[in-house]
Amino acid sequence: MMISPAKSICCIGAGYVGGPTMAVIADRCPDIEVTVVDLNEDRITAWNDPDLTKLPIYEPGLDAVIARARGRNLFFSTSVSEAISSADMVFISVNTPTKKKGIGAGQASDLRWVEACARQVVECAKGHTVVIEKSTLPVRTAAAIKAILDIPQRQPNSGEPSPTFSVLSNPEFLAEGTAIRDLEQPDRVLIGGEDKDAVEALAAIYSNWVPTNKILRTKLWSSELSKLTANAFLAQRISSINSVAALCEATGADVREVALAIGTDRRIGSEFLHAGPGFGGSCFKKDILNLVYLCHHFNLPEVANYWNQVVALNAWQQNRIADLVVQTLFGTVTGKRLAILGFAFKADTNDTRESPAIRIAHDLLEEGAQLAIHDPKVAPEQISVDLQKKPCHPLSDLKGEGTWHFSTTIEDAVQGVDAVLILTEWEQYRNLNWLKLASLMRAPAWVFDTRSVVTPTEIADAGLRVWRLGEGSE
Ligand code: UDX
Ligand code: ADP
Repeated sequence: MMISPAKSICCIGAGYVGGPTMAVIADRCPDIEVTVVDLNEDRITAWNDPDLTKLPIYEPGLDAVIARARGRNLFFSTSVSEAISSADMVFISVNTPTKKKGIGAGQASDLRWVEACARQVVECAKGHTVVIEKSTLPVRTAAAIKAILDIPQRQPNSGEPSPTFSVLSNPEFLAEGTAIRDLEQPDRVLIGGEDKDAVEALAAIYSNWVPTNKILRTKLWSSELSKLTANAFLAQRISSINSVAALCEATGADVREVALAIGTDRRIGSEFLHAGPGFGGSCFKKDILNLVYLCHHFNLPEVANYWNQVVALNAWQQNRIADLVVQTLFGTVTGKRLAILGFAFKADTNDTRESPAIRIAHDLLEEGAQLAIHDPKVAPEQISVDLQKKPCHPLSDLKGEGTWHFSTTIEDAVQGVDAVLILTEWEQYRNLNWLKLASLMRAPAWVFDTRSVVTPTEIADAGLRVWRLGEGSE
């Protein structure tokens, strides 16, 4: 079927993917009306807030894009049905978390929100509609979406023509913190689909700002699988370098030097070789577990075990950091004050999903520590949800119950602490005045740097002990 250029786009899901992606499409394609819809009223209200510091997600550069496009050809709304009816393209960008119960619990993606979207699309769409999977989905989900879309909806003789659909996969590769740059200058745009006209209609949108040679067209299944595979490969590199970091600590080597040495090999490349407290974020763990589930489903247990190990090593990395802190602080942190600098899963985002800080803080609370947590973008309410514990000002006795409170300044966080743990690589943690901070801490005090942001000599000059991930202590 010949498909004319898209005039109106609807995106279902105004989250970390849907919001920024649609903002950039609207910004770059002023002739296309883009409506982002969500059931979550608070989220939509925040997207519409005139105060751009109140947008529901923090992403460098997002405010400027929103300021240009919002109200012109970019709209945020809770009227899902209306937006679907008037769209010739519908992006599905809803959450696909790991299933918590039932078949595939702990591994498979929960597709209930995707299915609900497909059902709503089939009910509300008019004419021919291109439905695009933006959320990361298991291979062959498009077949399920297509099956739902193919259910005849309109009564025969109702006078209204039945809607028709093409399904495409167009996974998003943006990383949080660099979302706007990744969307404006992507390494590639991937479009999977069998309907050539639909593929070209979507490619035409991206060609407004993406060079033609970066727009890849593939089979539907290849596109779905490429997204899972890309995330699995990236996460695998992190688990690989983290495993080497542990070996470096044991042998006296330095993981930064090893990463530099291997990264200069063109075949290996230098990116994604930063050892750290383990990967977090909404994608890596979920997508690998999903891959593992698919492998089991297709009776490939060896392949499943191979990828599962990437996740297992990541959990081990997070656990071993908390253990190491306890061991270093004379085997106990009960009643001790510790500062945690950084709670987001990485710098330049307020997202805490799967953040290594959650597991590390949780383990230290279990040991009875009193944590002062600082993060420039994460709200204390979010930390409370993540730790499943309300904040409370530190107690000074040794009753053994772990407590935490939020510190708005680094000086406040380090008051009286025995150790500082740096868990997120925020820029502001790179140039701290350790001489001044050391005077606020309780000697002998430690700095545990899991992100390689400090200069060890500066810490030592301030009279503090330092432990760096992948190197150990001096
Ligand atoms: C990732 C993919 O990069 C992106 O392409 C995909 O669309 C979504 O998942 P994101 O989770 O936003 O993006 O962030 P990313 O920069 O990939 O970092 C993920 C985690 O790995 C973070 O916790 C980060 O700190 C950690 N990481 C990354 C390392 O520990 N070392 C590295 O060298 C790189
Ligand atoms: P991601 O990181 O993939 O963008 P998020 O969880 O940040 O995921 O966002 C997904 C959004 O999709 C949420 O705001 C959620 O309310 C929305 N959503 C889920 N199901 C539906 C639906 N059927 N209709 C509209 N919005 C939905």
